[in-house]
Amino acid sequence: MTFDFDKVIDRWDTHSSKWDGMEKAVGARGRDAIAMWVADMDFESPPAVKEALLEEVQRSTHGYYTGDLGWREAMSGWLSRRHGWEPDPDWITPTPGVVSAIGLMLQAFSEENDHVVVFSPAYHAFGKIIAANNRRIHNQQMINEQGRYRMDLEGLAASLPADARIVILCSPHNPGGQVWKEDEIRAVCEFCIERDLLLIADEIHHDLVYSGYTHHVTAKVMPEIMDRLITCAAATKTFNLAGAHVGGAIISNPELRRRFRSACAAAGLLSLPLFGMLATEAAQRHGDAWLDALLPYLETNRDLLADRIVKDIPGTRAMHIEATYLGWVDFTGTGLERSDFMKRITEDARIGVSPGPQFGPGGENWVRFNFATPRPVLTEALDRLADAFSDLRG
Ligand SMILES: Cc1ncc(COP(=O)(O)O)c(C=O)c1O
Repeated sequence: MTFDFDKVIDRWDTHSSKWDGMEKAVGARGRDAIAMWVADMDFESPPAVKEALLEEVQRSTHGYYTGDLGWREAMSGWLSRRHGWEPDPDWITPTPGVVSAIGLMLQAFSEENDHVVVFSPAYHAFGKIIAANNRRIHNQQMINEQGRYRMDLEGLAASLPADARIVILCSPHNPGGQVWKEDEIRAVCEFCIERDLLLIADEIHHDLVYSGYTHHVTAKVMPEIMDRLITCAAATKTFNLAGAHVGGAIISNPELRRRFRSACAAAGLLSLPLFGMLATEAAQRHGDAWLDALLPYLETNRDLLADRIVKDIPGTRAMHIEATYLGWVDFTGTGLERSDFMKRITEDARIGVSPGPQFGPGGENWVRFNFATPRPVLTEALDRLADAFSDLRG
């Protein structure tokens, strides 16, 4: 089966946060602006998703959902097929997305004002959900070692606040695209065991891993962590189903699972969203061939973006993206002020990007570009960037 990732889909006026919300959020204005910020893709989801949703639409009666065992089995089956880890379906709790699940975990497993550790620069929603729950973020800035981030556990050992309760490991990492090696994951697990911390492993980007790299499931790397580990997984990033807003919290420890489910119950979240459940189950049951076709397409986009940006904007450096469809570009070497650099991207090239500072300490001089878009759109964006910075090429 072939899939047409080159097909350009007009996403304006579709309630798309990435497109319809772009001007307000990141400033790129006009109908010819190109959205390269929010982490969803501009491709069609797998055909099996459309079929499952169409079947539901044809029935035309959309009441409350029940019977999520099949959904949990589909997630476990996917993890087993793709990542060699088959969690018991009973360990999995469906959640309304990963970020909201993390919010519920903060409520269940920490107190107000407690610290939550994040390795920055890190996905900005971690900081937002930590603050929204009146917890405090402890940003442990990563070290950029020859173009690859390293989590600074020595620094964390020295700076860890006494009231730190939880560590969030983003694996693979957003932004920066690191696929953590087994010894890197093991070191974080050992740290959490030593310091009596709960570990939340957000593995939502687990499937978007490029050739030469293997995602290592935290639970598999270090079974000894299982008692204090919550793994967040989802089909939404992989299959372009972010709007379905469904994830899974995988917890083997029965007491932690009970407390997490109580937090879900307290928020009235035991009733699950019908459309999201159908879409994500179909994707994880039938989406293998689609994903296998998508990954090389994304990999070509990744290389095109990095090669052209570095060539066309002298002084920039692109981090080597091992996973995710998010390019991460350092403009320190251009000598331009942030405001000038951003103005050229947003106003001159009319491209909506994610500004680095929102990812916390270490992100100040960086910009994140989402390259999960059809190649004609990507090429147009890169041409515009080349024009916006042409004076730097002498
Ligand atoms: C690391 C990470 N976690 C979670 C999410 C969002 O998850 P959800 O939409 O299920 O809340 C994203 C989206 O970009 C992400 O990058």
